[in-house]
Amino acid sequence: MSAEKVIEEKKQGQALVTEQRTENHKKLFLESYGCQMNLNDSEIVASILAKEGFNTTSVLEEADLVLVNTCSIRDKAEQTVRKRLQYYNKVKEINPSMKVGVLGCMAERLKSKFLEEEKIVDLVVGPDAYRDLPNLVREVEAGRDAVNVILSKEETYGDVSPVRLNSNGVSAFVSITRGCDNMCTFCVVPFTRGRERSRDPKSILKEIRELADKNFKEVTLLGQNVDSYLWYGGGLKKDFKNASEIAKATAVDFAQLLEMCAVEFPRMRFRFATSNPQDMSLDVIHAMAKHKNICKYIHLPVQSGSNTVLKAMNRQHTREEYMKLVDNIYKIIPEIALSQDMIAGFCGETEKDHQDTLSLMEYVKYDFGFMFAYSERPGTLAAKKIEDDVPLATKKRRLAEIIALQQKHSLYRTKQHIGKVEEVLIEGTSKKSDAHWKGRNTQNTVVVFPKENYTLGDFVNVKIEDCTSATLIGKAIGITG
Ligand code: SAH
Ligand code: F3S
Repeated sequence: MSAEKVIEEKKQGQALVTEQRTENHKKLFLESYGCQMNLNDSEIVASILAKEGFNTTSVLEEADLVLVNTCSIRDKAEQTVRKRLQYYNKVKEINPSMKVGVLGCMAERLKSKFLEEEKIVDLVVGPDAYRDLPNLVREVEAGRDAVNVILSKEETYGDVSPVRLNSNGVSAFVSITRGCDNMCTFCVVPFTRGRERSRDPKSILKEIRELADKNFKEVTLLGQNVDSYLWYGGGLKKDFKNASEIAKATAVDFAQLLEMCAVEFPRMRFRFATSNPQDMSLDVIHAMAKHKNICKYIHLPVQSGSNTVLKAMNRQHTREEYMKLVDNIYKIIPEIALSQDMIAGFCGETEKDHQDTLSLMEYVKYDFGFMFAYSERPGTLAAKKIEDDVPLATKKRRLAEIIALQQKHSLYRTKQHIGKVEEVLIEGTSKKSDAHWKGRNTQNTVVVFPKENYTLGDFVNVKIEDCTSATLIGKAIGITG
């Protein structure tokens, strides 16, 4: 295969390929699939390996080491990675000395089985074991396979300064919690990312300070369940009940962390993801309302509008409780944007359950959504105990109905912005036109407008003139104060 073909394939790949150059001499090709947390973890990995003499490269056939950060959330995500590994096999024909490692959730799920199932793989490293990468890579360089998939009670990578890969220099991710204790029956995350633990607020604020000093303008605080954030001196969230009285009295929760960030960095915009309905407190909503620099957007996955399905999913709330939370949010912050995750065709879902999902969507009228057909994941409670009994065609039809309704609601929401003047942070050039900037308003809706004399990283007021269901189109009328 020619080098051009290889590069072309890379360009078309969906994963984000990252590149950064320093004085280092070994070359690391690092790509990430899946969630924002994986992207941020890859930045941590790049930082750890930079100290070992690795520079990132975007050219696969010149790499000494290829690392792929993987996702297990649905079967399709795993298949995508497996196809990618087959492709590395071909590249190995022209770059025979390259070593291949898998990181992230698939590494954790499959462990050393990965080495047997995919011959190309030399190295398997789970999400809590990246500090061990220098040792593991040395093993691999010496010609031995290496595996570390130990999950941790403490690891938060709090003291690692991520190398900002493929950054626009404007917005960055900062991890605040790792793992998840919620045990939704469909979800593989608690098995691949371990128990929930929070990061020291001091190290979070220090990382944000470094970003502010580099002129970053927006930070997204990341966790599987950010509302569950609780710092009480370290340790697992589940062990908080055994903490000392002093530790309990001085603990920092998510609403407090948000306020600390907003107050200490008044010129930085803050976002966060993901929120879980049962863990979201009204304190968080009040903190959002109080500070202009906390963006007015909440990603609030619900998965289903049916109480029967919510129960089978082990979601810790009912449809009514969720609606009440949404009512409160709209009451406290009327201009808020909400987005959902929905799963179509979970085990036992009836037509009536599906209708309940559609009617909940009508009630909330989400601004955006991320919608999926249920995909059974090995090892989860649903896989072990509940039959995956909704036929694929039914799942697909219900999913299509959910997507169509979301599109209608998205258009309804974007139309409400027409005629308004909104603050937008310029994040890059529009995909469709070099003459236009793209950015987001506080609600997280993408806004495009002519570039004129504005520059990347400017906060500008944009008069919204038109829209599609996904994008607002306008004209800048000046820099904001
Ligand atoms: N709290 C996490 C959720 C991770 S999973 C976060 O930070 O976003 C993201 C979404 O994938 C879930 O909200 C759910 O809608 C979907 N999902 C998870 N497991 C799934 C499965 N087995 N089949 C289909 N969709 C799934
Ligand atoms: Fe998964 Fe539920 Fe946690 S969706 S990440 S187990 S909140």
